[in-house]
Amino acid sequence: MESKNGEGVRNKQDIFRDFIANGAFPTESDMQVTESTIELTRAIAEGSSGVLVKNLYLSCDPYMRNCMGELPDSAQSYIASFQPGSPIPGYGVARVLESGHPNFKKGDLVWGITGWEEYSLITAPESCFKIEHTDVPLSYYTGLLGMPGMTAYAGFFEVSSPKKGETVFISAAAGAVGQLVGQFAKLLGCYVVGSAGSREKVDLLKNKLGFDDAFNYKEEQDLDAVLKRCFPEGIDVYFDNVGGRMLDAVLPNMKLHGRITVCGMISQYSLEQPEGMYNLMNILLKRVRMQGFLVFDYYHLYPKFLETVLPQIKEGKIVYVEDIVEGLENGPAALVGVFYGRNVGKQVVVVSRE
Ligand SMILES: NC(=O)c1ccc[n+]([C@@H]2O[C@H](COP(=O)([O-])OP(=O)(O)OC[C@H]3O[C@@H](n4cnc5c(N)ncnc54)[C@H](OP(=O)(O)O)[C@@H]3O)[C@@H](O)[C@H]2O)c1
Repeated sequence: MESKNGEGVRNKQDIFRDFIANGAFPTESDMQVTESTIELTRAIAEGSSGVLVKNLYLSCDPYMRNCMGELPDSAQSYIASFQPGSPIPGYGVARVLESGHPNFKKGDLVWGITGWEEYSLITAPESCFKIEHTDVPLSYYTGLLGMPGMTAYAGFFEVSSPKKGETVFISAAAGAVGQLVGQFAKLLGCYVVGSAGSREKVDLLKNKLGFDDAFNYKEEQDLDAVLKRCFPEGIDVYFDNVGGRMLDAVLPNMKLHGRITVCGMISQYSLEQPEGMYNLMNILLKRVRMQGFLVFDYYHLYPKFLETVLPQIKEGKIVYVEDIVEGLENGPAALVGVFYGRNVGKQVVVVSRE
């Protein structure tokens, strides 16, 4: 709905209510769906370089749990806490309605940090990427062609030093990042196993995403035994999305000179005390390289990433699973669901299909 001069239009929003305690899982009541109004024609102040956008798709990402608490100083330079009483900030795909910035014009499509609301004023649009390729579903820019896709690409090819024929293990393998790491590894010629939290996801990994094997970590009492069964010769690359007891079980199963790429530790985000590690000595004895990374450090590779991945999508070499909910009113439940493994594939919230 377009506003006439000086007239506000409805702006439905998902508001972050207040910081949640260390050790608590997020709940739907930490967020509130409200309606405000916005004057589209006056949203950008004279002389500002902001961009007014209409949000189309929003991304539910695990890091958002960390932003729901008061962050320690050490984390502040990487991510920012949400502001209580304000719309949730997060990655999304949006259409530019008005622009005060020379790099963006009315009608452009962008992906980057926006707000969980119908219309947002993006004050630092330099951090957004312009979408040039629209012959793929636009929602892909919240996942496969956006931040999680870049995470999978950089974490696998730039950090993990993978080689053809190596053995690769991926946790949270059916999620946004994991499903892509697994497919990149298969395309390179690796032996790939994934873990996930339900039979449906294990089936997806084996029968749709092309993994060589997969297991449901919730049904396995002895993670060491299942890893030994899947990797009798050991693991060359562990792409860690979860941390905690899975990471500890992987350590004795690493091969000599193996690499552990620390992408995320979702199993720890909502714990008051992180779980202890008992098998770290294996890093020393097996000369394992364990390295964390943040996707922001690799965004300069985005054009190269697109050049690689767009043809692979079009040729059907990469398949992609999304879990899509409709409407901002269903956003809080979708975000909470990620921390319980309810999402099957990349969790996306549709704000508008235009
Ligand atoms: N380093 C970076 O720059 C960067 C960038 C993006 C994402 N990440 C990290 O990458 C990881 C995956 O992110 P994503 O976007 O692909 O999320 P996702 O896998 O699409 O969704 C999260 C999944 O994690 C699993 N999970 C939730 N709680 C768990 C627990 N306690 N133990 C084990 N698994 C649990 C659930 O799947 P199951 O059903 O399998 O349990 C859930 O579906 C996260 O740790 C995230 O923080 C890092």
